[in-house]
Amino acid sequence: MADVTLTIDGRLVTVPAGTTVLDAARQAGIPIPTLCHDPMLSAWGGCRLCVVEIEKMRNLPASCVTTATEGMVVQTASPAVVEARKTILELLLANHPEDCLTCHKNGDCRLQDYAYLYGVRGGAFPGDKHAFPIEDDNHFIVRDMNKCILCGKCVRACAEKQARHIIDYTYRGFNTKVAPAMDLPLSQSDCTFCGSCVSVCPTGALVEKAMLGKARRWEVKKVRTTCPFCGVGCNFD
Ligand code: FES
Repeated sequence: MADVTLTIDGRLVTVPAGTTVLDAARQAGIPIPTLCHDPMLSAWGGCRLCVVEIEKMRNLPASCVTTATEGMVVQTASPAVVEARKTILELLLANHPEDCLTCHKNGDCRLQDYAYLYGVRGGAFPGDKHAFPIEDDNHFIVRDMNKCILCGKCVRACAEKQARHIIDYTYRGFNTKVAPAMDLPLSQSDCTFCGSCVSVCPTGALVEKAMLGKARRWEVKKVRTTCPFCGVGCNFD
């Protein structure tokens, strides 16, 4: 496959044709924040946190779903890009519980990391907040959809890693949430509780019940493991 050469933050980067701008930047050691992207899952382009500025383009495209082309000139941290990312984080925090101190994912939360990195606090957009009941109806997974940022990684992990399609987006607009069909609890769905969804969740929306109250995230180590349920032997973190 032919290569393409583009300029990212003033550096010439050569990658195979078809590489996304995000992957090209990462190959060059240039960090771009992501929330909905996962290299093990299909590209989604939903959170928009990975926006970049590309010469001759009027909008700020999401780098995770934009293909690098020959001669492209990209800026990953221009004032417009940083401003856009701050606004995106402010919008996400506008409808997010402010309970980081007691959240199980405190210290291991991508939303928290990026809010800190960009100096963003909650309160920029006051308004209604979700009040979904916390779903604790099974022995394995606690779901707090008030902390869900609708990145869809759990939906894609269930469909693409496990070929299960148990959960998906349901309802519309402000009421949108991720749930099994008919918004049934997980215990009444065909979920095998493999934990793939939990392993990709970037916030505290999905938590492994066995870990709750046992240790803070920085006191435990993530390891690659094998799902014991169906015998296929899927690996995940
Ligand atoms: Fe690119 Fe979410 S990481 S849009």
